[in-house]
Amino acid sequence: MSSAAAVTTAASPLKTTADFTPAPSPTPSSMAVDEKPLFSPTLISPDVAAALPEDYTVRPIRRSDYHNGYLDVLRVLTTVGDVSVEQWNQRYDWMSARNDEYYLLVICDGTGRIVGTGSLIVERKFIHSLGLVGHIEDIAVEKGQQGKKLGLRIIQALDYVAEKVGCYKTILDCSEANEGFYVKCGFKRAGLEMAHYY
Ligand SMILES: CC(C)(COP(=O)(O)OP(=O)(O)OC[C@H]1O[C@@H](n2cnc3c(N)ncnc32)[C@H](O)[C@@H]1OP(=O)(O)O)[C@@H](O)C(=O)NCCC(=O)NCCS
Repeated sequence: MSSAAAVTTAASPLKTTADFTPAPSPTPSSMAVDEKPLFSPTLISPDVAAALPEDYTVRPIRRSDYHNGYLDVLRVLTTVGDVSVEQWNQRYDWMSARNDEYYLLVICDGTGRIVGTGSLIVERKFIHSLGLVGHIEDIAVEKGQQGKKLGLRIIQALDYVAEKVGCYKTILDCSEANEGFYVKCGFKRAGLEMAHYY
């Protein structure tokens, strides 16, 4: 990520050839792990893909998306903090081991840069005959890309996943300021959110 890479070298002592250790180049197997989608691309709605602006794509997140601006897009939503690539990989691998529960997807522009994202987390219940409930989380569209229906496409894409994997409903929390957006996406106000912060 660009901010993490902004390390000054001005005060560093000059390195000789003897102390220069090249960074390990990614092996074919580590590249394969980094490029593997979090979940099956067959869960990506063809209708949503077709409705995107020209050259834009929608796909499951990949481990390599640390370097494609994923965390920067989330910064329009809330504080992200300084997440190192090691911490990212650790969290990504945890989610990947639960890839029938965590469905994170991204929209990329024509250059492959991530411009929007959203997550669906599938909760397995005993009630409603072992029902599945989808939780939509962390919807974010980069500031300069807002107003192009990308937010709508993200919600439609997550709705498609939820239906395909068998959720009987999908719920989300939002601020009053975003209620109109979710109404346009087909959601309606249902109940009241309460929170206990720790
Ligand atoms: C909210 C957000 C995801 C909307 O994404 P977007 O790509 O700009 O929205 P879209 O272009 O898909 O909008 C779809 C429709 O919703 C409307 N809309 C968008 N944001 C709205 C809002 N805050 N209130 C009311 N309507 C809104 C649009 O005008 C459009 O309506 P139209 O179909 O009549 O033209 C985006 O603004 C964002 O990332 N905001 C910051 C992060 C955030 O608040 N995320 C939501 C957390 S709950």
